[in-house]
Amino acid sequence: MVAAGRYRRLLKPPKGSFFLFGVRGAGKSTWTRLEFPDAHLIDLLDESRHQALLANPGLLALELEALPPSRAVVLDEIQRAPALLNEVHRAIEGTRRRFVLLGSSARRLKTPATNLLAGRATVKTLYPFVPVELGADFDLQRIFRFGSIPLVWRPRTRVPPSKPTSSCTSAMRSGWKRSFATFPDS
Ligand SMILES: Nc1ncnc2c1ncn2[C@@H]1O[C@H](COP(=O)(O)OP(=O)(O)O)[C@@H](O)[C@H]1O
Ligand SMILES: [Mg+2]
Repeated sequence: MVAAGRYRRLLKPPKGSFFLFGVRGAGKSTWTRLEFPDAHLIDLLDESRHQALLANPGLLALELEALPPSRAVVLDEIQRAPALLNEVHRAIEGTRRRFVLLGSSARRLKTPATNLLAGRATVKTLYPFVPVELGADFDLQRIFRFGSIPLVWRPRTRVPPSKPTSSCTSAMRSGWKRSFATFPDS
């Protein structure tokens, strides 16, 4: 684990631009924010961003012009605006900028009208947690019952509850007194 409740993923970023597919909740956005902390992020779940870029995909080119070509750009939920891939194609050709393209549905991108960048970006998949990622928390029974998608997986090693403070215990005592007072025999 790399931080409280966070498991280290096996996936390593490939060289150059790439698509990263995986079901919703597989941990794509989390992994990308950790691996590319300095990247420029365009989150297409942000509805105002999404609508603006859908109406005018050329806005992406203007936004990229303001960034140094060495700065990577993450487009999260790219299946929501496949037309942006034409701009991405132009930017890779023009400036060799690196793009990380996250998608929850490869099916929605694989239409004849979608530009899949013809080999300019490799394709990776992020799967639910695998045993080696879960380490000591791996539990086959839990995986059979709930699966191991990060969104639903709860770490087993919990932070122990902190000791109640004296003000907290006196507040609890006076609360109990008040509740007992409602019973005539107490
Ligand atoms: N490496 C990880 N360790 C622990 N929990 C994780 C990890 N990655 C993701 N999660 C959990 O899964 C949730 C969904 O992850 P997210 O990155 O939003 O998935 P996606 O972008 O694939 O839909 C996160 O809010 C977090 O609670
Ligand atoms: Mg996401």
